[in-house]
Amino acid sequence: MRLSNKVALVTGAGSGIGRAIARRFHDEGAFVYVNDIRAAAAEETLGADRALVADVSDSGQVATMFSSLERLDILVNNAGVAESPERWREVNRIAEARLEESPITSHWDVTVSMDDSTWRRMIAVHLDGTFFCTREALKIMNPQGSGVIINLSSTAALAGLADAPHYAAAKAGILGYTKAVAKEVASRGIRVNAIAPGFTQTPMTELVSDKVRSASLATIPMGRWGQASDIAAAALFLASDDAAYVTGQCLSPNGGAL
Ligand SMILES: NC(=O)c1ccc[n+]([C@@H]2O[C@H](COP(=O)([O-])OP(=O)(O)OC[C@H]3O[C@@H](n4cnc5c(N)ncnc54)[C@H](O)[C@@H]3O)[C@@H](O)[C@H]2O)c1
Repeated sequence: MRLSNKVALVTGAGSGIGRAIARRFHDEGAFVYVNDIRAAAAEETLGADRALVADVSDSGQVATMFSSLERLDILVNNAGVAESPERWREVNRIAEARLEESPITSHWDVTVSMDDSTWRRMIAVHLDGTFFCTREALKIMNPQGSGVIINLSSTAALAGLADAPHYAAAKAGILGYTKAVAKEVASRGIRVNAIAPGFTQTPMTELVSDKVRSASLATIPMGRWGQASDIAAAALFLASDDAAYVTGQCLSPNGGAL
């Protein structure tokens, strides 16, 4: 019970990594609020009484969500989006073609064909969402003189990701923001860290084709993708007092890929 008497809020916790973090924190004794944009998904994680429905990219909805909280010890900014199913099909097609080609003639051409709204939505959910939730959380944590914030970045931020420059940019922005806010609020007794997972098996990545998935294993020394529980374990460490002297850091569970 490493989180006894703690109150936590995990965004995007109706699926995958967020759900695993919410359930792990609950098992460790925390009272966990489960945010998601999808009500039914949020309610399925720990029950309807813990669910808080809000779009993290909407500052009004975020402010309303936080106004229902009296205390907050841990915030996990986890909500995220990747590609549409159509786009995944295209990514798989190009990635599979490139595995066979030498020289490569199937070009990604993502940036040159991306429209404004696709770029903006990616930045809005990840980067705006992290800022909006952090701003509201600090209104509660500052007067408490304590708190922990954990932001989900990605190895895409550290190494780049050819098929998703908008995602890599959003996740890199989150890393810089994490380090800045960690310095900003350290004197308030609040710690801020990031987790940058590598490929992790969740609904977000389930449309990656078998062929692309197999090829990715060659880049991972441990020879497997991460499970959501691997990322939840990293979050538990950062949320717990075991990480009392850890702030402004990025912990990257990636099987040795980076
Ligand atoms: N799966 C991976 O390989 C991987 C790797 C690195 C980082 N990440 C990051 O981890 C986080 C969780 O990813 P996951 O794989 O569990 O994805 P997921 O798709 O399984 O879960 C994401 C959840 O966020 C919710 N969500 C989306 N937009 C939202 C919004 N605007 N407001 C509130 N909730 C919203 C979704 O409804 C969903 O329940 C994301 O930030 C993702 O970018 C994932």
